[in-house]
Amino acid sequence: MKPLISALQGKAQQIPPIWLMRQAGRYLPEYRALRSQAKSFLDFCYTPAMAAEVTLQPIRRFHFDAAILFSDILVIPDAMGQPVSFETGSGPKLDPIDTPEGVDRLASFDLEKLSPVFETIDRVKTALPADVAFIGFCGAPWTVASYMIAGHGTPDQAPARLFAFRYPEAFERLIERLIDASIAYLLRQIDAGVEVVQIFDSWAGVLPANEFARWSAGPIARIVQAVKAQRPHVPVIAFVRGADAHLPHLTQTLGADAYGLDTALDPAWAVAETAPTTVLQGNLDPLALVVGGAALDREIDAILAAFAGRPHIFNLGHGILQQTPIEHVERLLARVRAGRS
Ligand code: CP3
Repeated sequence: MKPLISALQGKAQQIPPIWLMRQAGRYLPEYRALRSQAKSFLDFCYTPAMAAEVTLQPIRRFHFDAAILFSDILVIPDAMGQPVSFETGSGPKLDPIDTPEGVDRLASFDLEKLSPVFETIDRVKTALPADVAFIGFCGAPWTVASYMIAGHGTPDQAPARLFAFRYPEAFERLIERLIDASIAYLLRQIDAGVEVVQIFDSWAGVLPANEFARWSAGPIARIVQAVKAQRPHVPVIAFVRGADAHLPHLTQTLGADAYGLDTALDPAWAVAETAPTTVLQGNLDPLALVVGGAALDREIDAILAAFAGRPHIFNLGHGILQQTPIEHVERLLARVRAGRS
């Protein structure tokens, strides 16, 4: 069985499977070469030959235990008639939604607009080595909504938090639409050929407890439940960044097969506070991977030691950074795959 699937079924392994969030990306020269040929980032995502190629690039170079579909969480607003563009250096740009009417003006989710994504999946699945698992993904409703409201990246998602306090009913309508769209989108990804799905809630950590339960945890649980009910064989990974002290409760209530830990969470605490059968993923600091050398080795060893005996998927605590040297990724893989001393 593929090592990633085995971990997701709860099997502790001497050498944990490893993949990296954002493993297809700008730290790879072959990514930058292909990216420079695309008109825009979304054109890149919507051109199956290119998206399939960049999905496979990190597998060819590093033979990670999983490939993650090359796309973006913001294709969902794009398919709801809120066009998304990405400007180099400044991140995503959307027309902000600042009134309840803005929510009601959104078009219905056009799943067919995302057919290039499903074609990408079809191309990748036949090209993957037999031991490499294929992960699909979506953003969690809260994180996707936070970009839809603000129209751009912010340090704390204050625009969406203000909107949710000011117009809770309209915000709820937006979240409900994102729950439905995310379920439909994940089911189609699964039918096209992904074997695992991950839900990214990158901005869960900015919410106070009540708002966290309502806008982050609740909607994720609904998506997990629907995917599990309709495609019970497909493992789901929940990456609730900034879940912090909520983690133990989340592992009992979300219904996911594995939980991603972000950089700030102490793995020893997570191991102690969750059931021994809980599958955990993470959580090397992406900055340690930038620095390399002894600092990197020490962090890798601490993570391997903390998760020893537990079902674990080695990963970063957030996406890989553009300035990461390739040799450090090679060093990471060699050290993890050498096994625990
Ligand atoms: O992991 C992978 O390799 C698969 C592809 C993937 C991308 N984005 C490609 C991408 C995945 C899984 C994502 C998820 C994503 N996108 C998240 C959740 C995970 C996280 O990092 O918190 C979020 C919040 C987004 C939204 C987004 N997309 C932002 C804020 C940006 C700009 C910041 C940046 O890193 O440039 C993007 C652009 C983006 N998505 C790039 C890539 C490779 C860089 C754009 C480029 O190549 O020009």
